[in-house]
Amino acid sequence: MNLYNIKHPEEQVNFAQAVRQGLGKDQGLFFPEIIPQLGNIDELLAMPLVERSQKILSAIIGEEIPADTLNAMVKNAFTFPAPLAKVNDDIYALELFHGPTLAFKDFGGRFMAQALASVRGDGKITILTATSGDTGAAVAHAFYGLENINVVILYPKGKISPLQEKLFCTLGCNIRTVAIEADFDACQALVKQAFDDAELREAIGLNSANSINISRLLAQICYYFEAVAQLPKEKRDNVVVSVPSGNFGNLTAGLIAKTLGLPIKRFIASTNANDTVPRYLRSGEWSPNPTVATLSNAMDVSRPNNWPRVEELFKRNGWNLADLGSDALNDEETEQALKAQYAEGYLCEPHGAIAYQVLKDQLQAGETGIFLCTAHPAKFKESVERILDIELPLPEALDKHNKLPLLSDVMANDFAMLRAYLLAK
Ligand SMILES: Cc1ncc(COP(=O)(O)O)c(C=O)c1O
Repeated sequence: MNLYNIKHPEEQVNFAQAVRQGLGKDQGLFFPEIIPQLGNIDELLAMPLVERSQKILSAIIGEEIPADTLNAMVKNAFTFPAPLAKVNDDIYALELFHGPTLAFKDFGGRFMAQALASVRGDGKITILTATSGDTGAAVAHAFYGLENINVVILYPKGKISPLQEKLFCTLGCNIRTVAIEADFDACQALVKQAFDDAELREAIGLNSANSINISRLLAQICYYFEAVAQLPKEKRDNVVVSVPSGNFGNLTAGLIAKTLGLPIKRFIASTNANDTVPRYLRSGEWSPNPTVATLSNAMDVSRPNNWPRVEELFKRNGWNLADLGSDALNDEETEQALKAQYAEGYLCEPHGAIAYQVLKDQLQAGETGIFLCTAHPAKFKESVERILDIELPLPEALDKHNKLPLLSDVMANDFAMLRAYLLAK
């Protein structure tokens, strides 16, 4: 598999290099040179998740990873289902929260751990990643206990849910967590700065595990196929998918699935009040506002990292950005959406509720809508209980961690401090 740096197309790497490096020169994102057209899609859709995903990923990655190795990687990573729940006659929910950390990031995080373990060679590796909520847990759990791989996770202090924090800041061992006194964009900027520091990169074998790593995106492609596979055949012609979007990795994966030949008519990017993309699609002007805190905090991102990949896909496929649906909901609208969904008999959390409502608003006659449910409702227990006036039992995975003490360090938004911290440990 060949990939190029979107900012500097002359920089070319193979899959192993892209996984190890994460980002290219000037913080450029790697992008596959070729996205193949898959053959018989109906045949693929008839397969079980793991077998189908092995075929899809092998078509993209090619001979660089031996078939047996790739098959084992997929099998070890995808150990849980992604069920499609019917909400009403026209709308389905793709539940991506049945993995160990109850969020869609388990797919990408676990596959990336497998990929890195298989291409790492010798030498130490430090995974440095920023999280706005769920990436941290997925990465921490996926890499927990792996030999010679240290993980450092930055997150915005006080801006993720207490339960999210407990899930990944209580592990210890090779997992260290740092609460940065700033917002998620600042955490992301610190990570980028670290990657730009060649000396640091070399000294600690720096690697990123957030959605900029191509292995994470590749894994996420697979559940879009799983969604269509579970639709009744007569519903597969006019499928519209609404993606709750923050950093736009999930949407990128969906667009790659469409490029591969998955029959999805169009996508909708659904955001919270951090609405850089919906405003851009309306006005043509890219003008991020300061990030604001919302109920759907994992999408509190105003400078989405993966947007260049989205634009690259539209450009290369000759698609028109005007065909990308989008809208933004504020917190009050999110609460109403969650209530409306609950009244329809489906219990969700704020991120999925936004995707559901925007889908409902924009779905046309004859279309079948799918929205992604990116986290288990109990991960946002406080808000869901307050908004719906119900009590939610904690799933076992959360309950276990909820009882443990937090092990995080606290740090100012200061690169020099972070650098010293990374070098010292
Ligand atoms: C629950 C949840 N929903 C949606 C998103 C947004 O996904 P993306 O950043 O790929 O757009 C995230 C990202 O962290 C998330 O944790």
